Amino acid sequence: MNVLILGGGGREHALAWKIKQSENCEGLFVAPGNAGTAQIAQNIALSPEDFPALKQFCLKENIQLVVVGPEAPLVAGIVDFFHQDEELKEVGIIGPDKRAAALEGSKKYAKEFMAKYEIPTAAYKSFNSDELAEAESFLESLNPPYVLKADGLAAGKGVLILEDLAEAKAETAAMLKGKFGEASKTLVIEEFLGGLEYSVFAITDGKNHLVLPVAKDYKRIGEGDTGLNTGGMGAVSPVSFVDDTLWQRTLEEVVEPTIKGLSEENYDYAGFVFFGLIEVKGAPKVIEYNVRMGDPETEVVLPRIKSDLLSHLWAAAEGNIANEKIEISSDFCTTVMAVSEGYPGSYPKGKEITGLNNLSDCIPFHAGTKLADGKVLSAGGRVIALSAMGANKEAALAKSYAAVKTICFEGIQYRNDIGFDL
Ligand code: AMP
Ligand code: GLY
Repeated sequence: MNVLILGGGGREHALAWKIKQSENCEGLFVAPGNAGTAQIAQNIALSPEDFPALKQFCLKENIQLVVVGPEAPLVAGIVDFFHQDEELKEVGIIGPDKRAAALEGSKKYAKEFMAKYEIPTAAYKSFNSDELAEAESFLESLNPPYVLKADGLAAGKGVLILEDLAEAKAETAAMLKGKFGEASKTLVIEEFLGGLEYSVFAITDGKNHLVLPVAKDYKRIGEGDTGLNTGGMGAVSPVSFVDDTLWQRTLEEVVEPTIKGLSEENYDYAGFVFFGLIEVKGAPKVIEYNVRMGDPETEVVLPRIKSDLLSHLWAAAEGNIANEKIEISSDFCTTVMAVSEGYPGSYPKGKEITGLNNLSDCIPFHAGTKLADGKVLSAGGRVIALSAMGANKEAALAKSYAAVKTICFEGIQYRNDIGFDL
C-alpha cells in the first residue's frame, strides 16, 4: 500500500517510523516532512492545507491511505474534500469530517457534545460578543481561579487561567472583542478543575475503536511545570497514577460514551480521538477533545504498540476496526524534547545538529529539522524528541537523557525533570 502522511513534526516522524515497519507499506511519503522523515520516506514539498495539490499527488502516486497529522487540515475539511471527490473515492483518509473536527475546532461544540452524551467535564457556560454583561455575572458566581477559553483554534494560546476577578472580567471583555481574532468572539467560561492530567487515545472507524496506551505530556517550558506553555517538552507512557480503577472508569465513563456519540451523530470519522483528561478525586473528567494524535505523546505511544499500526488504520478507513486486535508492550517509553534557545518565544533557526550518529538505544524523532548540504539543521522551536524504551520509567528516562546529552546544537535547551511528578 502507498501511504501519504501530512505534517512535518515529531508526531509525523513517529507515524512514519511505525507505519514503515508494516509489511503492507510500499511507498511512504510525507508532506512536507523534515530531515528525520527524509531518512525513511520521501518528503514532498506540499502544504497539508493545499487540497487540490494533494489530490493530484495522490492520483499520480496511487496513494491508498492518507494519514492526517495536524488539526488544521481536518478543521478546514480535508476529509469532506476527499470523500466528495469522485476520483478520490478509493483513497482512505485518517481523520474526521469537518463536522466532527469541531470537537477540537470549537470548545463550545465539544462542551455541547459532552453534555448530550453525559460525558464528565467541568461545568461551563458560553457567551458571544453581545453577552459581556452575562459573562461578567457568571464570573461573579464562580470561585477563583477562572478558566476562560476562546471557542476556536488559537495556536494553543486560547486558554487563560486567572486568579483575580477583575482581571478575569477584563480578559473576558478583550477576548469577546477579538483578542484572539474570530476564535475568541465566542467564549467558554468553565469551572476550574484541580488534579493530575493524562491523555488517552483511540483509533475509531466511527462505530468501534481500539484504545492506545495512556500518556502524560509536559507542556510548560520550565522545570516543575512553571513558565510559559509550549507545544510539549516531553512525555511518558504509561502513567503511574492511572491505575486499573481509573483506567476502567476512563473507558466506561469517557471513551465508550464518546465513541457512541460519534456513531449517533453519524460523523464520517475514521481516525484518532485524543482525550485530554484530568483526575478529580478518582474520577476522570474531560478537559478537551482533539481529533488527531498528540505531540509529543505520539513519540511515546507508538513505540509501545507491538501490532501493525498500518493494519489498524486501514481497518478504520474500511469500517472494520472491530476485527482488529492491538498489542501493547508493558515496557515504558519516555521522550525528552530538545528545543531552540528562546522557545516558546522567538528563536534562531539553521543551527547544525551534531551527534545524531552517536545515538544508541534511543529513537530520535525529528520535530523541527531540515536537511541542507548533507547537514541536519534546526528549523523550529521544538527540534528533536529523544524517545527511549525501558523496563521501568527510570530506565527509559536514563536513555532519553543520555541521548539528549549526546546530540548538540547551539542554544540547545531541555527540561531535566520529565516524569518528575509520577
Ligand atoms: P485546553 O486547550 O482546553 O487543553 O486547555 C489547556 C490547558 O489548560 C489544559 O491542558 C489544562 O492544563 C488547563 N485547563 C483547561 N481547562 C481547565 C479546567 N477546567 N480546570 C483546570 N485546568 C484547565
Ligand atoms: N501535547 C498536546 C497536543 O498535542 O495538543
